[in-house]
Amino acid sequence: MKKTIVITGGAGFIGSHVVRQFVKNYPDYHIVNIDKLTYAGNLENLKDVENQKNYSLEKIDIVNAAQIDSLFQNYKVSGVIHLAAESHVDRSIESPMEFIYTNIIGTVNLLNACRKFWKDDYNEKLFYHISTDEVFGSLGSDGYFTETTAYDPQSPYSASKAGSDHIVRAYHNTYNLPVIVSNCSNNYGPNQFPEKLIPLAINNIKNNKPIPVYGKGENIRDWLFVIDHASAIDKIFHKGVPGETYNIGGNNEWKNIDLVRLLCRIMDKKLNRNPGTSEKLITFVKDRAGHDMRYAIDSAKIQKELGWKPSVTFEDGLEKTVDWYLGNSNWLKNITSGEYELYYSKQYSNR
Ligand code: NAD
Ligand code: TYD
Repeated sequence: MKKTIVITGGAGFIGSHVVRQFVKNYPDYHIVNIDKLTYAGNLENLKDVENQKNYSLEKIDIVNAAQIDSLFQNYKVSGVIHLAAESHVDRSIESPMEFIYTNIIGTVNLLNACRKFWKDDYNEKLFYHISTDEVFGSLGSDGYFTETTAYDPQSPYSASKAGSDHIVRAYHNTYNLPVIVSNCSNNYGPNQFPEKLIPLAINNIKNNKPIPVYGKGENIRDWLFVIDHASAIDKIFHKGVPGETYNIGGNNEWKNIDLVRLLCRIMDKKLNRNPGTSEKLITFVKDRAGHDMRYAIDSAKIQKELGWKPSVTFEDGLEKTVDWYLGNSNWLKNITSGEYELYYSKQYSNR
């Protein structure tokens, strides 16, 4: 009999890559994607898997416990890979409540359903919670986040993710629920909603619009190609040890301003513009409140214990990403109409 694996948030950026990888690589799994389809959920991301026999979509809000329970009643779920979340820091600064509901209450609802329907029979069961390195707060100019770094979240987004990580671990310690948590650095790649730095910059460069760089552009992020995150999730889901935490990162730190300049150079080439043309669009704007200075992951544990490492270089990954956005202008056009325009003018008009 097929194993039923629930992937939450499968219509989002990272979730859609995870769904694709699991549907294609594991024909003996039935993948059930549960997603509320918020502004960030886009079924276009899953066009190539939507008709596969081992894939189903359930439009469910994880904040609604009754909807989750009835899903667990309908399917014999043996694993959950939990990605559904409100994921954008700037939105969490504007309206934190949605983050508390989805990221914390939604996670607890899923954990409760696992307890209720698995009835203490945890053989071959797993609740795998996908989290972020932002729970650790900000680093100074040196050092790395390890699995034992103390939590110190600074934004409503990272605090809500930290809260959910703690609850997931509490269900392991208190009820023996088999859980794993992984904390990953910034992802980039195809299908990312253009509110995040890289796709926003690509879209603005393409449309000759200013590229807003917060503060002096000196903040540092550690970038990982989304397909490499999906392969780490696959590895951890199949080989990770319940009760453990794994850090995932690209060992690839970039100052925002250097990254944006690199993107400008790539875009100039792709769009046949004179070198230096796109850089003129860079505009320094008011900094983000509570802006974390530096994130950097030490991923030695997953590399050593599970044999995972990133496979895509930043140069290749960025070029693939730019090519994808330039080749999918309809995807970008559909997603940047309506709600996005409202969001963009509210977010950037006063900066
Ligand atoms: P995303 O915003 O692109 O997608 C989130 C998905 O969750 C969307 O499909 C949305 O419709 C769905 N969703 C939101 N609220 C829901 C609800 N109440 N019920 C059901 N579905 C709901 O996010 P992403 O960037 O793909 O991130 C996925 C996960 O990975 C998140 O948990 C995030 O914290 C984590 N993460 C992201 C990054 C990153 O760089 N993007 C890095 C590390 C960890
Ligand atoms: P983002 O993609 O929002 O990811 P996160 O805040 O989760 O790291 O932002 C990445 C970095 O880019 C972060 O330091 C904030 C900065 N940034 C800008 O400078 N301008 C922008 O318009 C955005 C969205 C982000």
